[in-house]
Amino acid sequence: MKKNIAVIPGDGIGPEIVKEAVKVLKAIEKKYQHAFTYTEVCAGGCAIDKYGKSLPEESLQACLDSDSVLLGAVGGPKWDNVDPSIRPEKALLGIRKEMGLYANLRPAKIFPQLAAASPLRTDIVENGIDFMVVRELTGGVYFGEKKTYEVNGELYATDNMCYYEHEIKRIAHTAFQTARKRNHKVISVDKANVLDTSRLWRKVMHEVAKEYPDVELQDMLVDNTAMQIVKNPAQFDVIVTENMFGDILSDEASMITGSIGLIPSASLGESKRGMYEPIHGSAPDIAGQNIANPIGTILAAGMMLKYAFDMDEENAVIEKAVADVLSDGYRTGDIMEEGKTKLFCDEMGDKIVEYI
Ligand code: NAI
Ligand code: MG
Repeated sequence: MKKNIAVIPGDGIGPEIVKEAVKVLKAIEKKYQHAFTYTEVCAGGCAIDKYGKSLPEESLQACLDSDSVLLGAVGGPKWDNVDPSIRPEKALLGIRKEMGLYANLRPAKIFPQLAAASPLRTDIVENGIDFMVVRELTGGVYFGEKKTYEVNGELYATDNMCYYEHEIKRIAHTAFQTARKRNHKVISVDKANVLDTSRLWRKVMHEVAKEYPDVELQDMLVDNTAMQIVKNPAQFDVIVTENMFGDILSDEASMITGSIGLIPSASLGESKRGMYEPIHGSAPDIAGQNIANPIGTILAAGMMLKYAFDMDEENAVIEKAVADVLSDGYRTGDIMEEGKTKLFCDEMGDKIVEYI
């Protein structure tokens, strides 16, 4: 299969980890006789230095012309004081907006080999943690009208939580289709006992569910979900929820796996193409030292194969290679334990390629 991938190395450790992910994609290309082209795109802090803005038009165009975007990370202290209108993260918001990416997929999956890193009790972790949070990304309270004004001599602030039916409908489809690629179970998270947006959310979820008779749908209140994620994470397959609940729950979900360097994420829209990236930032404290963990980015590249290109087997091969490398005791510094073999960032990439 031919695919054009826009690659944004970005800032800090971005270029180091993206290089390893591209190495892995090239190994998959060779193994499965695909033909990927890689268009390097300048965005983030490095683009501010070069062009005076974090997302130059030609960079955005390259993303729009691609079949999917692979991103390292953007930002760093160097650009903390630039004008807010050109901040590095504006590049990501711009790409998300222009590509129409309204769904964020974040897996919470624990490698049994690293179970000790989880803050959860071993007996809970042993039941398995392997679920996907599907978060609505472009609606809800983060995008509703915001106001601060004076009422009776004191300040008063409001944030408006709002959702259109069509916004809920499309994220519902994303969730059910994601569940079809997994274990056919969706838990829809809301606060329907109090919020109108949640009551609409629940209604639309159940309507859309009729189109997916092979997927089981269950409702859960958000406060209960927060408890269940730490109490019994094995019950979850796909969690779908609105923007703010998803922001909080997806961070909770990543933390129970214990390591920020290992977790990928995807931002998806109507079409299959999207933007794929690790959940961590540009880690300026370790940039340029070849010690970053490239696994989150490598798994993000795998997610791209699975969700954007329907290459489920290719992704499974990447996931297995990563799991086997960990089983055989190879570690980067951030997940190093006594008695294991410590690898540099590029050595970890090479090792995963070797296992593929
Ligand atoms: P961070 O995720 O970059 O780093 C947090 C801690 O985790 C650091 O100690 C770092 O060394 C470590 N870490 C992160 N990724 C790692 C990896 N792959 N291997 C080993 N260790 C790793 O978060 P922080 O420090 O809050 O943000 C740094 C910069 O990144 C900021 O400018 C922030 O705005 C930006 N950022 C960018 C994101 C993106 O591009 N999507 C997301 C989050 C933050
Ligand atoms: Mg967050």
